[in-house]
Amino acid sequence: MSDIGKLPIGVFDSGVGGLTVVRALMERLPLENIIYFGDTARVPYGVKSVATIEHFTGQITDHLLNQGVKMLIIACNTMAAVASGVVRQKAGAVPVLDVIEAGAGAAVVESRTRAIGVIATPTTINSNAYARRMHALDPQVRVYSQACPLFVPLVEEGWLEHEVTRLTAQEYLKPVLAENVDTLVLGCTHYPLIKPLLQAVVGSSVRLVDSAITVAEQAARTLNELGIANPGDTLSTYRYTVTDIPLRFQTIGERFLGRSLGIVEKLDW
Ligand code: DGL
Repeated sequence: MSDIGKLPIGVFDSGVGGLTVVRALMERLPLENIIYFGDTARVPYGVKSVATIEHFTGQITDHLLNQGVKMLIIACNTMAAVASGVVRQKAGAVPVLDVIEAGAGAAVVESRTRAIGVIATPTTINSNAYARRMHALDPQVRVYSQACPLFVPLVEEGWLEHEVTRLTAQEYLKPVLAENVDTLVLGCTHYPLIKPLLQAVVGSSVRLVDSAITVAEQAARTLNELGIANPGDTLSTYRYTVTDIPLRFQTIGERFLGRSLGIVEKLDW
């Protein structure tokens, strides 16, 4: 094990949503140090153009590489959908994982009927990134995609069990369920928070794929394969950096993280 093991993993997202990935990483890899970057001044990305997302993603990648990270994890599905090429090009030898590669891979393994649903932001759905990745792994799969733009604000409002969220989910999922999917990919950082509600809407026969959990699994495998896992002789450290600290940031952030946030650093960009 080299000293690289002690370096942090850089995890980034358009805002606070990527803390669902940090939470999964903390549970799966409790010895790893993590730097989180949330672009809270410019969120949401899910309705922005590809060129803008590529530009912002490049800036964030440069920032985290300058911090000296041993691995980058694109926690934002929208960035992974349209700008993962930018990240990989800048990262060079630093390994890059992303939620789409992880979630698509898990869905193809999970599905028995090969009919898979994907729900995500409009930009992620329009990019067709999940479907392309799944078809590359198994050309026989049929992928049914649905943009769910209202879920992000509903989750940030904390309406995780609310009737309005349930009705919205029923409406969005009607066309996907009509195709008899047996697996549904939660293709957005925010959706793991409404997993119980979504499971109730789709029924117990449909498996939900949580990209946060699958990317944490993939991170564990990759760190071991590359021999860069942290041996953990000191307490792990977590740094949270954001571009703005909006109203209710703490409450929303802690809901995503599932624990108290600690010190949050605001960068002047
Ligand atoms: N993080 C985004 C995603 O996973 C959702 C929030 C946004 O639109 O920026 O797609």
